[in-house]
Amino acid sequence: MEVLTITLNPFNPQYPISPDLFYGRGKIIDRFKYNVEQSIEGSLTNMALVGEFGMGKTSLLKKLHSLDICDDVSKVYITLKDTYANSFEDVIGYIYTSLGNEIKEFFKSLKVKITVPYVEIESDEKFSKDNFRKYMVKLWTEANKKSPLIIVFIDDFHLAYKYFVDIRNCFQELHDNGCKYMLVVTMIPEPLKLGKREDPYKRFFDLIEVKEFTKIETTAMIQHIIKKTKLNISFSAKVLDDIYSKTRGHPYYTFLMINEILRYKNSGCVTTQHYKRIFPKTMDNVKLTFDAYYSSLSYGEEDALKHIIDSGKEVFNPGLSGSSSPTSTFKSLEDKDVLVKIGYGQYQFKHPFIRYYFMKKYSEK
Ligand SMILES: Nc1ncnc2c1ncn2[C@@H]1O[C@H](COP(=O)(O)OP(=O)(O)O)[C@@H](O)[C@H]1O
Ligand SMILES: [Mg+2]
Repeated sequence: MEVLTITLNPFNPQYPISPDLFYGRGKIIDRFKYNVEQSIEGSLTNMALVGEFGMGKTSLLKKLHSLDICDDVSKVYITLKDTYANSFEDVIGYIYTSLGNEIKEFFKSLKVKITVPYVEIESDEKFSKDNFRKYMVKLWTEANKKSPLIIVFIDDFHLAYKYFVDIRNCFQELHDNGCKYMLVVTMIPEPLKLGKREDPYKRFFDLIEVKEFTKIETTAMIQHIIKKTKLNISFSAKVLDDIYSKTRGHPYYTFLMINEILRYKNSGCVTTQHYKRIFPKTMDNVKLTFDAYYSSLSYGEEDALKHIIDSGKEVFNPGLSGSSSPTSTFKSLEDKDVLVKIGYGQYQFKHPFIRYYFMKKYSEK
């Protein structure tokens, strides 16, 4: 009788990849290592990894956090949640508490005898800029006995974008006080698009774009994970081509498709025949997410999209929308992440999945 061994599916799109299965991003990893060296040597360099939803920011941050750079560097990993971003005081309070706790653990792991009351805060004390600085300087002074640098990794930093300037000022003051906290954060691009806000971000962070994988990288990533996890599955070259043409190397969408394939067929070679049945199921899985995301489209915008879908064109101009104010309709469809401008007067759907979603939506009505 066949015995099934059930292991965790490494292509689960709902979780970031674990650092040991992580693929690629070599240039960013090298840049991080270089920035760490620079920071230790005296030129403190913060980094922001900027990318759209599902592009692999959290996976990358976890990978950077896991790297063995130098024994004495303290590393702190913080996931910002929207509940901790309701006020500036909440954010700095959360950063400080997480830092304090993790640094305690770090010293424990080094087996260094150290008294840790310096991380305790008086229980009824509300965080303010001033006491944050005071505590952070104390923390640094203790940590610096052992560490040349504290790297603070913060995932989803965009949740605190309203307080960015204040947070930046805090860390700049800490730097002026001789404290070496290197920030490495992830964020979506939106806060950078808000005109004047872009500049302070640029000057405070080494801004790094986290992009889709190329075709070669997408195939290599799939094969890398299969090999590492010893999955008994392979994909025909045609299927790998098709996966790329539908996902355009977007890691989340790639995982979503492979995950669906593995549910249906978890060993042997996947051919176009199998795959054709699977793609509609993948689209069913994103339907609810897209329904919620695109629920705010106006009647005029929906009408323009119907015209575009009816034309069957993948690249189109505003004239095709049948709208009386095509330019502003296209502008707002761009702002709402449906379309993207690719050249003068030329647009396409932001991602093939979005195009398929609207094709399906309008063909059902
Ligand atoms: N470098 C990578 N190697 C392997 N899988 C990746 C990589 N980057 C992203 N993924 C996969 O893509 C999906 C989305 O990644 P995630 O890190 O959650 O993106 P983000 O934080 O930008 O929304 C996850 O399922 C993750 O496992
Ligand atoms: Mg993430």
